[in-house]
Amino acid sequence: MRLHIPLLAFALMIVGTQCAFAHGDGAPQPVDTTGLKPLGEDMVMTNPYRGDAKAIEIGARGYNSNCARCHGLDVKSGGMAPDLRALPPDDDSDGWYLSRVLNGAVRDERVKMPPFQGLLSQEAIWAIRSYIDAQPDDQ
Ligand code: HEC
Repeated sequence: MRLHIPLLAFALMIVGTQCAFAHGDGAPQPVDTTGLKPLGEDMVMTNPYRGDAKAIEIGARGYNSNCARCHGLDVKSGGMAPDLRALPPDDDSDGWYLSRVLNGAVRDERVKMPPFQGLLSQEAIWAIRSYIDAQPDDQ
């Protein structure tokens, strides 16, 4: 059998596009962290960017495309998931934040929050944390 290469390539392209769509809004979105100090391979356990304007700006984008659908726009929870402004912006709660983001929250095989390990870089994870920390929690 002779394969028709251009046709095959075209067919694969269509399948590829449909898979991308099938994942819909739920697929984790990569975050471009250009401009942030690179953090290397080892996981940093406390937020190295707290208060950094560039990290807050990048984190806003990362938050909106990965977290806002559950945790709410502007980090104001609509009740579907905890209000992340309630986490104190300090090193102690960084550890809890990190473990939740890496591992997600899975209970009785129900995924309440998907794990982001391997999907978001640690630069992106800490930029998102910087954005969350920068939100006033007065309302
Ligand atoms: C599919 C919905 C969903 C998405 C998307 C999601 N979360 Fe969550 N998240 C939840 C739920 C639900 C909980 C509460 C889990 C529980 O009951 O233990 C939670 C808990 C958390 C907690 C612990 C909060 C606390 O007060 O204990 C943190 C931190 C967190 N999420 C951060 C994030 C970040 C950062 C993102 C984006 C990178 C994100 N989540 C994306 C649903 C989501």
